[in-house]
Amino acid sequence: MVDQMSSAEPGAIKEYHGLAISSDELRSKLSSRDESIMIFDIGDENHYKREHIPGSRFMVCDDKTISAMLPKMPKGIDIIFVGEDENYIKEMAQMARDESGLQTRYLQGGLAAWKWEKTAELDPRITPNDLKRALDEGKLNRDIFLLDVREPDEFRNWNIDGSENIALGQIPHYLDKIPKDKEVVTICPAGNRSGMVTLMIQRLGYNVKTLEDGLTGWSAAYERVAHIFEVWQNKRVKVVQLRRIGKGCLSYIVESSYEAAVIDPLLPIEDYLTIAEGEMNAKITKVMDTHLHADHVSGAKELAEKTEAQLYLSPYENYKEIGSFSRLNDGDVIGIGSVLLQVIYTPGHTQGSISLWLGNKLLFTGDTLFVNNIGRPDLKEQTEKLALKLHASIKGRIFRLPDETIILPAHHDRPVEADTFIEAQLGDVKSQQNLQQIFGLQKEPFVQRMNSITMPTPPSYKEIMLMNEGEKEKPSLKEIHQLEMGPNRCSA
Ligand SMILES: [Fe+2]
Repeated sequence: MVDQMSSAEPGAIKEYHGLAISSDELRSKLSSRDESIMIFDIGDENHYKREHIPGSRFMVCDDKTISAMLPKMPKGIDIIFVGEDENYIKEMAQMARDESGLQTRYLQGGLAAWKWEKTAELDPRITPNDLKRALDEGKLNRDIFLLDVREPDEFRNWNIDGSENIALGQIPHYLDKIPKDKEVVTICPAGNRSGMVTLMIQRLGYNVKTLEDGLTGWSAAYERVAHIFEVWQNKRVKVVQLRRIGKGCLSYIVESSYEAAVIDPLLPIEDYLTIAEGEMNAKITKVMDTHLHADHVSGAKELAEKTEAQLYLSPYENYKEIGSFSRLNDGDVIGIGSVLLQVIYTPGHTQGSISLWLGNKLLFTGDTLFVNNIGRPDLKEQTEKLALKLHASIKGRIFRLPDETIILPAHHDRPVEADTFIEAQLGDVKSQQNLQQIFGLQKEPFVQRMNSITMPTPPSYKEIMLMNEGEKEKPSLKEIHQLEMGPNRCSA
């Protein structure tokens, strides 16, 4: 293909040779399995959904896409724009060449000229839960190759363990790094770039699927596991732990005598309703947060409103416009079915963090203490003040509870198999070497240690906190999940 412009006149409309591709030439390129091309349908989305050229991907050609996507596209391969309106696709192909130096072309005659087969859908995907199951079964590297197609800086910030990074623009140059004898799962923030790679390499003979909704989907997907605990006076409590597989957020449904409380719920709230009221046959009467979360948008208010349950929050946090709620003061005791829940004020991760002690046995610690680590002060500006409080809360309050106390945190920092219930006995937590070492420190060195944590605070945390304080309206669920995307950064 010739790339030079035929017109050299300043201000003249640029006209590229080889900009048009005929239907026959495109068909022959598609049939050839050794040439990388990408086809974007930039026409009408409904028409695309009904039928499209096999291997083409729908793309909205607005300013946002042009500025965000074009620089990431691979140079040196044919990128074909198709659509109903020939003038429009020609203009767009020309503009993409001008702006990004891409080898864009357009289908001569538009979609009407395509006289070959069309297909309704050709976009193989894998759901986050199916991928997690396959990883649990040990298929990574044996049967599955995780291909993250984001830019290197995005990849460095957060990635799925064991994934390899080849940015979208580099794919055609590194095809030899992608195994043909494994199932390739392509990964990006929301499934767009990865979907393009899936279509591009699928026609080269790769067995490939896109991770559905990308890392946003991976961040938001749940696993759940139930456990029955015997608490004070041999009473039985059923606890369902809901776990976000990518992000490690944990929330809980606690049931006793057909009454349920939900601790640290996330959005969306539907799973809590289905599990508590559908599967456990219990009524959600109480919804509570252990603290003002900074890494995810709380679903407590929404769940309480939906179920007409009482919303309980820490009075020591800065909830501004959240509306009315019951205050979880230090020492307060609340009944859930036939068991009692006691509030223990444990500031340090945040100024208002509380822990919830159920039936003298289970301790919901929020982000104050994890099963293998301690929380970190959430606000960098207040690290020193909060670190001192954290030290006092854990050593002075939590560590004084019986060693048989079961720690149930709000986060976990590493993936676990789907049926694992994340818990630990307090005695075991205390005897862990890393924690012994941290708590062996006097106050000053402890504060220094907290100050030395260089890991950045969760991305978008300020915005998320404003939403959880009630100061800022919550956007759509999709936008919330995009804001929340990222690793667990709550532990020290
Ligand atoms: Fe937190």
